[in-house]
Amino acid sequence: MKTIFILNGPNLNALGKREPGIYGGTTLADIEEDCRKAGAALGLEIDFRQSNHEGHLVDWIQEARDKAVGIVINAGAYTHTSIAIHDAIRSVSPLPVVEVHLSNIHAREAFRHTSMVAPVAVGMICGFGPLGYTLALQAIAARL
Ligand code: DQA
Repeated sequence: MKTIFILNGPNLNALGKREPGIYGGTTLADIEEDCRKAGAALGLEIDFRQSNHEGHLVDWIQEARDKAVGIVINAGAYTHTSIAIHDAIRSVSPLPVVEVHLSNIHAREAFRHTSMVAPVAVGMICGFGPLGYTLALQAIAARL
């Protein structure tokens, strides 16, 4: 079966407790469950991971080259700062990468308006909460 890596960056392990007014009450485990169901319906195996460490995300993007057919990534705050994640995604090209954010980063502080992931992603889904993850899976599946 084809595998999709779903990679989550810093502080996303705190979903459900973290700023619920912005991120809602859904936990990352709930989102993983949604993704597994959506993946099963699309015939995709889901490898769902989270780390607070930038280098782990870089390692996992590199690992995806041999183990996955696509990546869904919510890089959290590293989205706005990480040239290392940008370069890692470039290095696995043409593996399709879809960027996801729970919140609408463009309607928030100016420092969230820039994404280092967006220029190397197929596309970005933001502002739809947890639904964004399953939308991203559909977007990847449509390209395979
Ligand atoms: C986020 C948006 C980022 O700006 C923030 O740093 C996060 C979460 C989102 O999913 O809305 O950690 O990626």
